[in-house]
Amino acid sequence: MRRITLTALVAVTLGNPVSVLAEPQAEVLHWWTSGGEAKSVAVLQQEFAANGGTWTDMPVAGGGGDAAMTALRARVLSGNAPTAVQLKGPAIQEWYEEGALADISAVAEAEGWVDVLPASIAGHMRCEGTWCAAPVNVHRVDWIWANAGVLEANGVSMPSTWEEFNAAAEKLQAAGIIPLAHGGQAWQDATVFEAVALGILGADGFRKAFVELDENALTSDAMVAVFDQMRILRGHVDRNFSGRDWNLATAMVMNGEAAFQIMGDWAKGEFLAAGKVPGEDFLCASTPGDGFLYNVDSFAMFNVDGDDKRAGQELLAKLIVGKNFQKVFNLNKGSIPARTDVSLDEFDSCAHLSAEDMAASSEGGSLLPSYAHGMALRGAQAGAITDVVTAHFNSDMSSADAVEMLANAVANSM
Ligand code: GAL
Repeated sequence: MRRITLTALVAVTLGNPVSVLAEPQAEVLHWWTSGGEAKSVAVLQQEFAANGGTWTDMPVAGGGGDAAMTALRARVLSGNAPTAVQLKGPAIQEWYEEGALADISAVAEAEGWVDVLPASIAGHMRCEGTWCAAPVNVHRVDWIWANAGVLEANGVSMPSTWEEFNAAAEKLQAAGIIPLAHGGQAWQDATVFEAVALGILGADGFRKAFVELDENALTSDAMVAVFDQMRILRGHVDRNFSGRDWNLATAMVMNGEAAFQIMGDWAKGEFLAAGKVPGEDFLCASTPGDGFLYNVDSFAMFNVDGDDKRAGQELLAKLIVGKNFQKVFNLNKGSIPARTDVSLDEFDSCAHLSAEDMAASSEGGSLLPSYAHGMALRGAQAGAITDVVTAHFNSDMSSADAVEMLANAVANSM
């Protein structure tokens, strides 16, 4: 654990009936440990310290946050919750229902969050009318990343349909290049699966299947086609894919060993941290199909004792939604700001594409929460789907059997 120690005394008046003089303290649980992620969370640590806070870092490695969520439960069960926790989607409301979360409404109201956050994002941060989490960003999940030089050398362009993707992958494979860099971890399988599903099912089909858990949508012919495409992709990953971390898969694209990666735009954070330039060294495009799968990182504050910790929670919440932090953090992280009033002038072309597509899909009704990143469903339901996706990807299970298993797993998880 690292500690950043500062001794400044800060007057804290927000959110506490008694105005107290307390040194803001925060033990912060998060899973941002890759190169780009660590650079990004350092921005928050520095701002916290610059404002008189003492940060105790509790990083729990593991992309997608599964290990972090296990660590969180153990800490809460032992009666020793961290001060602030990277927490997303319906898991926020699940912890709220357990009575574990602190109310940060006073900060939200003083800072006017309701005026600067889109309603779709604000909704995830509310628990029965109170504010219970602070949003950091908007990550898009449905992206393809590519090594620009590898594509050019092989006469391949960014695919805009799955058929084009499959044709490109065969050409690359014949040329001795790994078509798809992938890490065989359940959450990465789920990430690829939901991007394929959005493309093949369309936005309405995706919503019915993975937001509403509609049985007809889960067992449709289109869902069979989604698993067919997953089987094709399985044929385009290398032999050593099992267990590989996502950022190592990104590195394979960076160094030209592989051509493509299907991953959220935290992958862009890795390219940028390595000094790579979008449009020159690497390319970004949305995965084939219409729509936008969003994944909003946020922090929730847990019930803790002590004015210093409560002061830390208020300071953190305020900084996280602050304009400067939202810009600098997201320039590093690969995402775009959650606030609508941050200029994107300093952001790259991939971020601009993300912002434009987000606005268009919001208008057109195809802005959808990511199931794979815990934005759409409760944990048990999302877990049931991912188990099937992974079981199919790692076996020779037929698409028809996978669809049947999917419908059963979802029914049993409710
Ligand atoms: C996501 C998270 C991102 C990134 C990624 C890989 O779930 O929202 O911020 O950290 O996991 O760890």
